[in-house]
Amino acid sequence: MHPCRDLHLHLAVSATAVLFFSASVILSAVPAARAQQETEHEEEFSYSPDAENGPAHWGQIKAEWSACGNGEMQSPIDLAGPRVTLVRRLGHLNHSYAPANASVVNRGHDIMVRFEGDAGSVSIDGTAYHLRQLHWHAPTEHSVNGRRYDMELHMVHQSAKNKTAVIGVFYEIGARDAFLHKLEPYLEMIAKQPEREEKVGVVDARGARGRASVYYRYVGSLTTPPCTQGVIWTIVKRVRTVSRHQLELLREAVHDEMEKNARPRQEVNNRDINMFWPIQQNKH
Ligand SMILES: *[C@@H]1O[C@H](CO)[C@@H](O)[C@H](O)[C@H]1NC(C)=O
Ligand SMILES: *[C@@H]1O[C@H](CO)[C@@H](O)[C@H](O)[C@H]1NC(C)=O
Ligand SMILES: *[C@@H]1O[C@H](CO)[C@@H](O)[C@H](O)[C@H]1NC(C)=O
Repeated sequence: MHPCRDLHLHLAVSATAVLFFSASVILSAVPAARAQQETEHEEEFSYSPDAENGPAHWGQIKAEWSACGNGEMQSPIDLAGPRVTLVRRLGHLNHSYAPANASVVNRGHDIMVRFEGDAGSVSIDGTAYHLRQLHWHAPTEHSVNGRRYDMELHMVHQSAKNKTAVIGVFYEIGARDAFLHKLEPYLEMIAKQPEREEKVGVVDARGARGRASVYYRYVGSLTTPPCTQGVIWTIVKRVRTVSRHQLELLREAVHDEMEKNARPRQEVNNRDINMFWPIQQNKH
């Protein structure tokens, strides 16, 4: 465990804090530079199931994060076959992505590509949602019939009225992902340096999304605090591949102590899970 987080925990619960305090100071004083970096970036929330700021407690950390605890339309969920309805009128996803300047950012809990220019948009129910950023979770946050894959890409879009739509793409270990491959040198630059960002020049989101057309659709939330609801989710059914090296690069860049950055699955409650499947393809 992180020495500093360890320290807070003990200070809070124990009268023998002084003992732990000295132990922590000695521990963190050894690799001085590294300790300093970590202290500067004290995470407000974590993915550790046992931590005081772990997923089960996100809703209690701040008033603005209460939806994480009491929201009834939270994400991620399991996309369980029996609950899924085929809805052809959802139609093909029409996106108009374009190359745009971007930066990679180490957010401590994940790696994000933030678009500075206009990266294009996706059209849902006649509304344009502009691509703002994308980031990765490992393993996947959503699951299909209980199965989680190795990684999930989230492409986060916003409408002119600030409504959010996220496209999720699953990956499993295999051949390398060409989109991520271009970012590898930048990932190495920002590895282990929370808050660090690097300009990467022009990034073309078409490479991230791919061309698969079958997708799930449901209404949920952001999967990190503040867990805002009303997010339109589109999860692409086709599973893509990422190399083990790439996955490790993404993980090691952010995960000093956590093995994963995937929120546990949330209750579906009475939500509809729909699926678009083009007519010209045979089912299964
Ligand atoms: C995508 O464009 C096609 C052709 O213009 C249209 O028929 C379809 O409804 C659009 N899909 C969505 C989701 O808007
Ligand atoms: C990216 O930024 C460079 C330098 O600021 C600029 O010259 C170029 O036109 C930008 N490209 C795009 C696609 O916006
Ligand atoms: C959208 O969000 C931005 C930044 O969070 C805010 O400045 C803006 O006023 C919001 N716009 C609307 C229409 O709510």
